[in-house]
Amino acid sequence: MPGINIGVDLGTSNVRFFVEGKGLALTENSVTASDIRSGRPIAIGSKAYRMIGRTSERVQIHYPLRHGVVSDFTACQDILRYYLQIICGNRIFKPNLVISMPSTLTGLEQRTLLNIAASSGAAKTCLMEKALACAIGAGVDYRKPRGAMVVDIGGGTTEIAVVTMGCLAQHESLQIAGNTFDEDIRRYVRRERDILIGRLTAEEIKQKIGCAYLRDAEIAIAVKGKSYLTGMPVLFEVNTTEVFLALREHLEQIAEAVRSTLSRTSPDLLSDIAERGILLTGGSALLPGLAGCIERKTQIRTVAAKDPANCTVLGIGETLRHMDVLSGSGYLFKIQQEAAEPA
Ligand SMILES: Nc1ncnc2c1ncn2[C@@H]1O[C@H](COP(=O)(O)OP(=O)(O)OP(=O)(O)O)[C@@H](O)[C@H]1O
Ligand SMILES: [Mg+2]
Repeated sequence: MPGINIGVDLGTSNVRFFVEGKGLALTENSVTASDIRSGRPIAIGSKAYRMIGRTSERVQIHYPLRHGVVSDFTACQDILRYYLQIICGNRIFKPNLVISMPSTLTGLEQRTLLNIAASSGAAKTCLMEKALACAIGAGVDYRKPRGAMVVDIGGGTTEIAVVTMGCLAQHESLQIAGNTFDEDIRRYVRRERDILIGRLTAEEIKQKIGCAYLRDAEIAIAVKGKSYLTGMPVLFEVNTTEVFLALREHLEQIAEAVRSTLSRTSPDLLSDIAERGILLTGGSALLPGLAGCIERKTQIRTVAAKDPANCTVLGIGETLRHMDVLSGSGYLFKIQQEAAEPA
């Protein structure tokens, strides 16, 4: 294959690119902004992300994916084409892509993703199960007949999977993840304080003082919002206990889904998992106490992987080196597609 091989983790919150021979090349927000009248994109990635909640009536914000699935074809195409152009520059041959996908993606959704890749400038595209990429990125030797459990908690989805010999033995996908936590915080502040806060403010609160357990020593931060009663700006304090109370229900649902996936797992795989422990990946694995939450529910040691947010893209990057063999044998990739070769 003459073009360069690029791994793409097309996430609900972030899109990450891994270039073969170079490593992690780019991480950007999965957001675009377009002009309502012309429909043309005016900002892509972090530039569009900073516009969230601050747009005029002429500008519309687009989220290309919802819960890990393409929800806006054009925005997804814009984002992929833009960054592939930055990475590939004026190369003669189009790049080959490996894109991660949730294990629950339907045939139609897979085909949509392949069409987007082809129309964004890819020569050949393979799709790879996200949970498998996470496991490889977290350091699991995927070829061995030994069970490992990976829980990938990103922005839009939580993927729970038991991996063995390069395949998934059990898997479950939840539509509860980082974005749900942000919404939980917004709803809590609205209900308990009669104050409205924006999406980015909620995310900031979560990243600064969010935790999945009741801290002995509370920490508080001051944030700005809008009073629901007066319509005026207010400065108020929010603390770790309040954030925990806001997230508690959904944290419990994630832990319960992990327990239920384990209960469906065969005894031998289960003992491998008990020995190795459960691995947490995805940006939301950075939430303090989340591992403890799952550990208490399952009684199995749970740890966040090294560099959890990048596990998926690093796992795809690892498989890029074997792309010819793997895509040919259909071992790791569900579908592949040939498009016109040179640009
Ligand atoms: N320190 C932190 N504490 C809590 N959450 C965090 C932290 N840092 C990042 N996050 C959250 O991680 C999420 C993004 O994670 P990630 O980049 O893995 O998602 P994604 O891969 O784009 O989404 P998905 O895999 O669900 O499609 C966001 O919700 C973000 O707020
Ligand atoms: Mg992800």
